[in-house]
Amino acid sequence: QKQGTPLKANLSSCHPSFPDGDQIGSCCPPAWPVQQIVDFKFPDPSSPIRVRRAAHLVDEEYKAKYKRAVAIMKELPLDHPHNFWRQADLHCIYCTGAYDQVNSIAPFKIHHSWFFFPWHRALLYIHERILGKLIGDDNFALTYWSWDHPDGMHFPTMFTEGVLNNTQRDAINLPKVVDNNYRAEDRGLTDGEQILDNLALMYHQMVSGAKKPELFMGCKFRSGVEGECEGMGTVEESPHNSVHGWVGNRKNPVKQDMGAFHSAGLDPILYSHHPNIDRMWATWQKMRDNELEFDDEEWLDTEFNFYDENLQLVRIRVRDVLDMSKLRYKYEDIGLPWLDARP
Ligand code: C2O
Repeated sequence: QKQGTPLKANLSSCHPSFPDGDQIGSCCPPAWPVQQIVDFKFPDPSSPIRVRRAAHLVDEEYKAKYKRAVAIMKELPLDHPHNFWRQADLHCIYCTGAYDQVNSIAPFKIHHSWFFFPWHRALLYIHERILGKLIGDDNFALTYWSWDHPDGMHFPTMFTEGVLNNTQRDAINLPKVVDNNYRAEDRGLTDGEQILDNLALMYHQMVSGAKKPELFMGCKFRSGVEGECEGMGTVEESPHNSVHGWVGNRKNPVKQDMGAFHSAGLDPILYSHHPNIDRMWATWQKMRDNELEFDDEEWLDTEFNFYDENLQLVRIRVRDVLDMSKLRYKYEDIGLPWLDARP
């Protein structure tokens, strides 16, 4: 099969880019001093494992800690790479194709393809460590919104409090059981029906509809081309996209904030929604005995750039994020009730 060059972003190519029905706009970073990009290094294997807990199960002490970290992040100078809005820009940049690829005018985009899971895993890894560093806590971990589990199918209340709240959410949907298969329309299901529907959907997206890497991970986005690959994996389509749309404010033209790529990072719930997406990837990997998804250098060596918690500009390759145990975090186990929801 055809293999090309791994993708790299041309960091000096940032341009306005809202290709998904959004108005054109820009989320390019300030002109940060040019810095040598260094290879990502795994955390020390003896460092603590950060445990990401289900958002509906955390205690007050954790919530206070998380709020403190986000408050500090919001107070950093606006041009600081760790500033909350500059973190939000990262999502906007890579999700809307604001960078071109090196040696090409094709955009570097990480949605609708095999980069979806790896890129977001890298983003969460970086974001979590920055938050931890801001409060001096090496054990700090994000939470996950467990919309795949009946106990976690309501919007997590912690994200309606203080700095974790966001005003641009859907006032009609928010109090209900989440619709993991939301298609911009209320389906009028009872809570009980919605829960069963969510579980059946999860079974399909994770098991019966995801028997091959292409189906689960998305299509093979190659370097230098645009438009050839537009194939989402099962979970990217729903619950990923559908939950984004369910949370976003229906009164806004493209359902900002959560309902649009450029603005999703403005809502702190992004950092709990995506850990559950990531948890689904880890679960799927485990169900396949961690067999490598794609033995393809173009994928494995594609690189993403981030300022890490020490303000070092790093290159994280897809191959670096395939095994979360090497990244020293894991998910609290609350069970996977959808495994029994086979139709
Ligand atoms: Cu880059 Cu949930 O999207």
